[in-house]
Amino acid sequence: MVSTEQARRKYDAIADRYEDMFFYVVDVGQQLVDYADPVSGTRMLDVGAGRGAVARAGLARGCIVTAVDASPRMVELMGLDFPEITVKQMDVGRLDFADDSFDLVTAGFVVQVLDDPAAAIAEIRRVLAPAGVLALSLEKQSVGRLQWLHELNVEFFSPTPDDTTVDQEVGPMTDQDVGTLLAQAGFVDLTQKSVEMPLSMSDPLALWDWLISQGLKEALQSMSDKRIAEFRKRFFIEAERMHAHGGIVLDFGATLHRAHAPM
Ligand SMILES: C[S@@+](CC[C@H](N)C(=O)[O-])C[C@H]1O[C@@H](n2cnc3c(N)ncnc32)[C@H](O)[C@@H]1O
Repeated sequence: MVSTEQARRKYDAIADRYEDMFFYVVDVGQQLVDYADPVSGTRMLDVGAGRGAVARAGLARGCIVTAVDASPRMVELMGLDFPEITVKQMDVGRLDFADDSFDLVTAGFVVQVLDDPAAAIAEIRRVLAPAGVLALSLEKQSVGRLQWLHELNVEFFSPTPDDTTVDQEVGPMTDQDVGTLLAQAGFVDLTQKSVEMPLSMSDPLALWDWLISQGLKEALQSMSDKRIAEFRKRFFIEAERMHAHGGIVLDFGATLHRAHAPM
């Protein structure tokens, strides 16, 4: 979880290549809007909109779309890519909109990065019209057959105890946490749906190259040559093992949550 200021810096730094790094967000954005099923003319607000993965799917269904994000660079790029969308830099915890302004609020992979998700959900409820819909997605955190990579990451890249930018006390948000937050904010008719997005890699080198493109390159820059060589050696031993036993597949998945504001 990150503060709004940290989010601004973190997401500004990756805004230009965000949808290349997180290849599945456009597909999930589409599925999230399909799950909400808005009619043409729906007043839709997409919060934490990033490069517009969810917002563009709303636009395609004829919604009147407003999108907000804390990151100025995300906002700038979204505005250039989608001139039909009203784009604003804004904190989801302090939405600058009147009560009952929207029929649908979407949040793709956002609640789990917020430092105060309850405040954001209360704000979303406030700006939703009676019986309005909230649709959000949550990344699944299961590591499955990639447990070895997770352990390698922890061993080589764990934050030091004095790294105050990482919350080491709180685990990742679960679907149950989301359900509790929504119910506490007064939402009703809660439903959810799982989506799977497996990504197959042809061989260990393809997995290495993909991880390099996802930030491994930058992470390795802070390590000595000896430690990089050790990491690389251990990585390829484990990746070869996985390749030989069932192939290398990254089991990405998400849960779509949908709820209604009360009448
Ligand atoms: C994981 S990205 C998801 C982007 C997009 N919804 C998608 O599905 O691709 C999270 C986004 O939330 C934004 N964000 C983080 N904290 C925020 C806050 N407090 N208010 C508004 N946006 C925030 C980030 O800048 C980032 O663009």
